[in-house]
Amino acid sequence: MNRYSERRERLLEYLPDDSVVLLFSGKAPFRSADETYDFYVDRNFYYLTGLDAEDMVLMLSKINGTNSERIFILPYDETMAKWVGGRLLPEKVKDISMIQGISDRDDLDVTVASLLNRYRLKGDLSFYFDFWHYDPDQADTQAQKYAKNMQEQYPYLIMEDIYPVLTKMRLVKDEYEISCIRKAIRTTNLGIRQMMKVSKPGVNEMVMEGIFEFVLKQASCKDLAFNTIAAGGQRATILHYADNDQVMQDEELFLCDLGATYDHYCADISRTFPVNGRFKERQKELYQIVLNANKMVAKKAAPGMSLKDLNKIVTDYYEEELPKHGLNKGVSEYYYHSVSHHLGLDTHDVDGGPGALLEAGNVITDEPGLYVADEGIGIRIEDDLLITENGAVVLSEEIMKDIEDIEQYMRGQ
Ligand code: GLY
Ligand code: MN
Ligand code: MN
Repeated sequence: MNRYSERRERLLEYLPDDSVVLLFSGKAPFRSADETYDFYVDRNFYYLTGLDAEDMVLMLSKINGTNSERIFILPYDETMAKWVGGRLLPEKVKDISMIQGISDRDDLDVTVASLLNRYRLKGDLSFYFDFWHYDPDQADTQAQKYAKNMQEQYPYLIMEDIYPVLTKMRLVKDEYEISCIRKAIRTTNLGIRQMMKVSKPGVNEMVMEGIFEFVLKQASCKDLAFNTIAAGGQRATILHYADNDQVMQDEELFLCDLGATYDHYCADISRTFPVNGRFKERQKELYQIVLNANKMVAKKAAPGMSLKDLNKIVTDYYEEELPKHGLNKGVSEYYYHSVSHHLGLDTHDVDGGPGALLEAGNVITDEPGLYVADEGIGIRIEDDLLITENGAVVLSEEIMKDIEDIEQYMRGQ
C-alpha cells in the first residue's frame, strides 16, 4: 500500500456496492497553431494516483463486494519521445500508483461496454464521474464529454458525481500533505526575502515577479501555485492585479501575493512592505490594523468554526477600528474579499460549502486586507493555517510580517 492505493481503497469504502468510478487526468488545452497551454493534471486524479500525465483514465469498481482497479494509458510513442520526451512507461505507472491493472487508453470504451453487458441484468450499476464545472462557459472536461457520450449510448445508465466524496477526503490533510505545504511555504519565504532585498524606487514590478520566480527555480520548484501578484502603490487595491508591469515609486507600499508548490501542494502567501524599506506613519497605522486582524483570526481559528465566522472576526474589528482612522465609508469599501479559503492541491482548494465547519487537518488561509484607493494604499497579509484540535498552527510563521522586522531586514541588518 502507498498513500494513493490507501486513498483509492478509502474512496471505495464511501461508495455503495455496484459502483464504477471513472477519473480522467485531463489534457493540455489548445493555445494557437500547434501550441498548447501547460498541462495541469486533474487534482482528483492526481490525489488518487500520484500520476502527472496526460490522457490517462482511472477506473475503480466495487461490484458484488469486490474492489478492482485499472488504469488506461497511452502507449509509449518513440517519435514523441524524440520531440518532447517519453511518456511514463507501464512499470513506472505501477511503481508510482501501485495500480496493477494497466490497459491501453484505446481499450477504455470496450472495457466499459463489456462491464455494462456483463452486469446489465443487475440493472443498478452506477457510474461516478467528477462533474466539477467552475464556469458555465468552460469547455467540457474529458469527464463531461465521456459521460455525455455514454448517456447517449446507454440511456438507462445511472450517473453520479464523485466530487463530493473526493472533497470530503481532500479537505482533511494527512501528514505528508502538510509537509508538502510546509515545504512550499519555505520556498516562498526565500523568494519573498529576496524581493525585499531587491526592492527600491525605480524597480519594475515585473523584476520583483522575476526575482521571486528565479528563487523558486533555484530551489528546484518548477510550478507556481498561481500567477504571481506584484503590485506597487494603488495597483495593490486591485485584488488579483495581473499586469505586474509598473515602476515602483518612492514612499509606495508593495503588495505581493504568491506561492511556490511542492509535489503540487500550494503555498498562498501575501506580504506588504515599503518599496524603500521604511513605512510612512500613515502606512504603519493602516498596516498595523491588518496585522492585528491577521493575528486575531489565527488565534481564534479552531474546529467547529466556519470560514464565515472567521471573516466576521475581521469585519467586526474593522467596523470598530476603521472610523478611528478616518475610514468612514463602511467596511466593504475598504475590504472586499473574505479572510479564508482552503488550501491544498489547489490554491482555492475544495471546500465543504457554505456553513461547513472547520475540523482538525484542514489547511486554510488567513488573509485580511485593507484597500484605500484614494490614498494609493493596498495592504494584504496572508498566512497559511493548519487547524488542529488545539487551535490553529501558523504554518507560515517564519515569513516576517511585523513592521520592525521588515524595516530592519530591509535596512540590511
Ligand atoms: N492568491 C489568491 C488568494 O489569496 O486567494
Ligand atoms: Mn493569496
Ligand atoms: Mn488566498
